Amino acid sequence: MTTRRDFLSSMAAAGFAAQPVFRERAMLSLFKANAIAGGRDPGAVAQDESYWAEIQRAFDADRTMINLNNGGVSPTPSHVLEAMIRDLRFTNELPVEHMWRVLEPRIESVRRDLASEFGCDIEEMAITRNASEANEIMIFGLDLKPGDEVVITNQNYGRMITAWEQRVRRDGIVLKQISFQVPPPSDDYIVERFRAALTPRTKVIEVTHITNLTGQILPVRRIVDMARSRGIEVFVDGAHAFAHFPFVRSDLACDYYGTSLHKWLLAPIGTGFLYVKKEKQKQLWPLMAAAKEQDENIRKYEEIGTHPAANHNAISAALAFHRGIGVGRKIARLRFLRDRWAKRLLAESPRVRVLTPLDARQSGALALFQVDGLDNVKLGEWLMAKHRIVTTPIIHPEFRGIRITPNVYTTLDEIDVFSDKVLEAIAKGIPTSSTTS
Ligand SMILES: Cc1ncc(COP(=O)(O)O)c(C=O)c1O
Repeated sequence: MTTRRDFLSSMAAAGFAAQPVFRERAMLSLFKANAIAGGRDPGAVAQDESYWAEIQRAFDADRTMINLNNGGVSPTPSHVLEAMIRDLRFTNELPVEHMWRVLEPRIESVRRDLASEFGCDIEEMAITRNASEANEIMIFGLDLKPGDEVVITNQNYGRMITAWEQRVRRDGIVLKQISFQVPPPSDDYIVERFRAALTPRTKVIEVTHITNLTGQILPVRRIVDMARSRGIEVFVDGAHAFAHFPFVRSDLACDYYGTSLHKWLLAPIGTGFLYVKKEKQKQLWPLMAAAKEQDENIRKYEEIGTHPAANHNAISAALAFHRGIGVGRKIARLRFLRDRWAKRLLAESPRVRVLTPLDARQSGALALFQVDGLDNVKLGEWLMAKHRIVTTPIIHPEFRGIRITPNVYTTLDEIDVFSDKVLEAIAKGIPTSSTTS
């Protein structure tokens, strides 16, 4: 008898090229799902497949592959894509009128909605094209003198490290990269690692809210408090945090925050935001020039020239979908999916090590695992080549492994096929010829 899981596995292995069927009414799925959820708590709903089946229907996901890299970028629900395409078509009919006069001003309601979700003033929210843009506005925006010091970790995102290194070459600043154990023994340990690197010349700390490497959530609030008492600015890279797990700005007490919206908010590709506290805006230059009159206007960070209004306007549709699920329900489901593979692999093989702490305070959907005695890069290649399972190889000088990232549209079958195949590789080894097919 062919089970659903066998069918899924064989379809994925064959690279079955069905065209996704486009559905315009994806929001309907959300209404149905909410009726199913009723008033139950997020933990109970996390395990209710009838609820999540409705959420899955809101996406035109390509199920011919099992996508367990939702960390890089995620698909957007069909109705969000539809909103964006509708606006692009409308734009193209008469761009100067339709895009600039009709659509672009609507960025203000997107700003209002994002500010309310993040918990800041509308005048502190800039809409960017991704987290890199938001973070680089911070990194390049502050006047620093030769010899001024910046403290980051060697687990910050690669592009952000590259940006700081460019400032080192160009401006003669000093970049200190601290390392920390994976997984870290405690929050105290992390805060102490930062504290030990500070000197009277330290001007900035850049901290990642949740790392892309292991999915470790860092104690941002404590780092901000420690830095503020010393007059040090803290830039928070929240690329993976916003709309992933519940928090608002006041929980972090930070003055600067950058994120992507095409990851966990499921907004269209090419969306992000930058938060800058009102009092800090004057001192933080934009990446592209803005007029002096805009010195204290958050919109100075949006002076990027002609760009589509459709992408950023569709953020509102993604936000409505996100609020419809609710961040509590979302993170409960994401942790449920993560535990389903991670705890199973740990239980079924003593050779598996999960480098992400699986408690709720320290992690969310992202987790990194290793298999002792297997080449983990080859394992990832084999999962892709033979079983069409998309994972992320992580190679860091101090640790390595495979990062697994489900999302709200991921099915239990997909998680189980992945776990089955890893256990198969552990039991039988990886055939040497199979990774290149
Ligand atoms: C921690 C972190 N920062 C920044 C980025 C850059 O995000 P984007 O590609 O949206 O610019 C990423 C992307 O994965 C990330 O993981």
